Amino acid sequence: MEKDKGYVTATEVERAGEEVSTRRDFLQRSGQCVLGACTLACLGGTMRFALPDAAEEAPACFSLGEPADFKTGTWTWLRDKGLFVLRESQGFAVLSSRCTHLGCTVQRSTAGFSCPCHGASYDHQGKVQSGPAREDLPWFEAWLAEGRLWVDLKKTLAPGTFVDEVRTGSGTKPP
Ligand code: FES
Repeated sequence: MEKDKGYVTATEVERAGEEVSTRRDFLQRSGQCVLGACTLACLGGTMRFALPDAAEEAPACFSLGEPADFKTGTWTWLRDKGLFVLRESQGFAVLSSRCTHLGCTVQRSTAGFSCPCHGASYDHQGKVQSGPAREDLPWFEAWLAEGRLWVDLKKTLAPGTFVDEVRTGSGTKPP
């Protein structure tokens, strides 16, 4: 806009209005874009929790290693699998290392297992000794096949049930 002539023409006023309008439109569109992006991000986050993510679901049946990986008379903690493997003279046992209260990882203790999060304790068979946990640590079905120890996290066994090395060592999967 020219200021030195002392007046403003109708065309100049119209152009100035367009400039203001254009700037306002730009700011409005920018705001709408930001709002839209935020909404999509929120919806995406919500849908992620609402729908199962098949890609992240771990298989229930898998190999834990060769029998020789587990020494007789010892507990082996498989951190990445959330499991303890106990090998005794009578065979193998596979127990969850996740506390049944809220899922923290339990630790071996002189009495069995203890949870560092809220103090639950379990005996050597994973039976609850003190809360807040109410359920025992599950023993999972395990078997020997193809020279390896396998586990099925969808099947549990009564505490104290060992995989008999002699009986299952021939290499057949459970029915
Ligand atoms: S998660 Fe183990 S006691 Fe709470």
